[in-house]
Amino acid sequence: MKILITGAFGQLGTALSQNLRFNYDVIRTGRTVPKNQIGHTLDIRDKILVQSLLDVLNPDLIINLAAMTSVDGCELNPRLAKEINIAGIQHLCDAFDGKIIHLSTDYVFNGENGPYSETSPVSPINVYGETKLASERILLHENPNHLVLRCNVIYGYDNLTQASFLNWVVNSLKDGQIIRVVDDQINNPTWTESIADIIFLCIQQKISGIYHWGDGNLLSRYDFALKIAEKFELDKKLIHPISTKELNQPAARPLMSGLKSNKLIGLLKVVQPTIDNCLNKIIDKCTE
Ligand SMILES: NC(=O)c1ccc[n+]([C@@H]2O[C@H](COP(=O)([O-])OP(=O)(O)OC[C@H]3O[C@@H](n4cnc5c(N)ncnc54)[C@H](OP(=O)(O)O)[C@@H]3O)[C@@H](O)[C@H]2O)c1
Repeated sequence: MKILITGAFGQLGTALSQNLRFNYDVIRTGRTVPKNQIGHTLDIRDKILVQSLLDVLNPDLIINLAAMTSVDGCELNPRLAKEINIAGIQHLCDAFDGKIIHLSTDYVFNGENGPYSETSPVSPINVYGETKLASERILLHENPNHLVLRCNVIYGYDNLTQASFLNWVVNSLKDGQIIRVVDDQINNPTWTESIADIIFLCIQQKISGIYHWGDGNLLSRYDFALKIAEKFELDKKLIHPISTKELNQPAARPLMSGLKSNKLIGLLKVVQPTIDNCLNKIIDKCTE
């Protein structure tokens, strides 16, 4: 089976491409293709390019990871956010008859009473969340056999992306920089490789509809940063707690959030990894 991944050179795309290539023919596409990487240039805003590339490559399945993921960037430039996060998925639906797996987010919720299940009412409080919710609706309206997988606070380590919280914490502490980390945003941070494993199982078991996947621990971003410092043996004293309000960011953030994964746990017969588990594996990989 031929699987085309959009946004394949981002943090999740890197882990997912590595995971799937053992079993599938993986075609990596990105807005740009980094040097030393093999793939196709595909900006999903470009309807004509989307159509012509899909005609040529003729994949059996698309996994759409391409997105404008900067939450404040989306708030400051909602037009661009809509072009990428909403028009982009429409272009894929228009050009492709097969199944699409699409990544979404806990930011479709308002953060008043998480963690959330798939049946919890959605109510985004920022542009990023609004555009991701719109993308979910477009996809499932086109075909209910597509799959929307909602995740939250995705982290990986072995790449150069700006999107990884883990990279930011480790690199800042290694440089001796004080970092201020919010202690009032609660989620269940999820390792890229944990999501890649779940996507692989969803492909194999032909799962459709909306599902949530998050790893096992619900905690604040500050407590997550402390855990990272502890595991990487870095100076915890450089991590200072701050409230979301004090940060005064352009976009509002859901505070009590996180995702319940019970439905997928039951369907796929899997267990959620703990953060300790994942960080230990990452550290083992770094020292291999
Ligand atoms: N990061 C999180 O905590 C999180 C949480 C929940 C859900 N998600 C979702 O998971 C997916 C993967 O996110 P990630 O964490 O891997 O973030 P990421 O590293 O920012 O990956 C997103 C990728 O999309 C690409 N992209 C942006 N605009 C594009 C366009 N117009 N056409 C094609 N590609 C474009 C980016 O390329 P450039 O770098 O060249 O712009 C980047 O490679 C996204 O759909 C995101 O919404 C992320």
